[in-house]
Amino acid sequence: MAQLELNSLEKRFGGGDEQVEAVSELSLSVIDGEFLVLVGPSGCGKSTTLNCVAGLESVTDGEIRIDGEVVNDKRPEERNIAMVFQSYALYPHMTAAQNMEFGLKMTTGLSKGERREKVESTAELLDISELLDKKPKSLSGGQKQRVALGRAIVRDPAVFLMDEPLSNLDASLRSTMRTEIQQLQDDLDVTTVYVTHDQTEAMTMADRIAILYDGELQQVGQPLECYYRPENRFVAEFIGEPAMNTLPVERRGDRLVGSGVDFPVPDRASGGLSRGQFTLGIRPEAISLVEPNTGAVTGAVEVVEPLGESSHVYVDIGDSTVTVKTEGPKSVDRGQRVGIDFPEDRVHLFDPDSGVAVARRASIPNERPSDRTALTD
Ligand SMILES: Nc1ncnc2c1ncn2[C@@H]1O[C@H](COP(=O)(O)OP(=O)(O)O)[C@@H](O)[C@H]1O
Ligand SMILES: [Mg+2]
Repeated sequence: MAQLELNSLEKRFGGGDEQVEAVSELSLSVIDGEFLVLVGPSGCGKSTTLNCVAGLESVTDGEIRIDGEVVNDKRPEERNIAMVFQSYALYPHMTAAQNMEFGLKMTTGLSKGERREKVESTAELLDISELLDKKPKSLSGGQKQRVALGRAIVRDPAVFLMDEPLSNLDASLRSTMRTEIQQLQDDLDVTTVYVTHDQTEAMTMADRIAILYDGELQQVGQPLECYYRPENRFVAEFIGEPAMNTLPVERRGDRLVGSGVDFPVPDRASGGLSRGQFTLGIRPEAISLVEPNTGAVTGAVEVVEPLGESSHVYVDIGDSTVTVKTEGPKSVDRGQRVGIDFPEDRVHLFDPDSGVAVARRASIPNERPSDRTALTD
């Protein structure tokens, strides 16, 4: 049990022209027992952040604190942290049991019997008891990752760090393991930072999400807060699948007008809009198809992707394409002209230069996240 704090964490690699700023001024507080997901596209600094916390990378500037104590200069094994990697990182010449026991042997004074007992009870927890005598090469990817998790759990650390632990697994196993890791973390109540590039993983697993882009923190919040109330355009487009539609618009009196778009300035925004140009954002699942020339825009259907319970309809509105997520099977044909209705309370406006949100939803709805209608109300 522990609180983890990053204060203005900086990490630069190399020097001179070659210098890479992997993490900039990152401040983040993970509370005791929390499951925090650090999410962002490849190369945004997630692994570097985690490696700094683990002590596998030195810090250029700033502070890492565990339960209030600065750990910048502590060796990895002194930090009471256990890490799980995408590559599993198991010792190939050791059995699963030996892999799980290894850290205990190195960092604790436990007897052989005590270590064996811990390994066995953890193996039971993970349902891998029958794998304990096997070597990694005879285990499947999912089994290897369970052993790697076991190796982390058995050490009873203050903090778990997980770097894309499910990325090497196939889709169905990934979804099973997602649930298992969540349940485990819930039961063990260990402060966890989980890294992924996958926004679905972030949305479904996290107590809170921290979204990173280009080494900089974009937003920290509960998953639905980030979904409904993104603080900037990057977060808006990164969270949600398919991605939020964005359209350039200009304010003309009390209307927002753009190529193919004509929409009233949302009430909640009209007071604060001092400038003329905006990026309008609207989620595919927030909008619906209506008769041509009714709704906010009209265009021609380019592509329909039927997914069974829903379809993605791509509508060409002139200078851009708008994605609409419709319920049920295919209901329109390629080439058909359709209107698209934008519910006013689902429209976001962003500053076109900085990307900062100037109008977003006032609050998140009360419905459960698993209830699809909550995302399409
Ligand atoms: N050892 C290193 N030397 C130089 N640059 C590095 C090193 N490790 C990472 N980087 C750079 O730092 C940035 C962040 O990398 P990383 O933390 O691995 O991103 P992520 O895990 O989000 O994909 C990238 O631009 C990457 O190329
Ligand atoms: Mg990485």
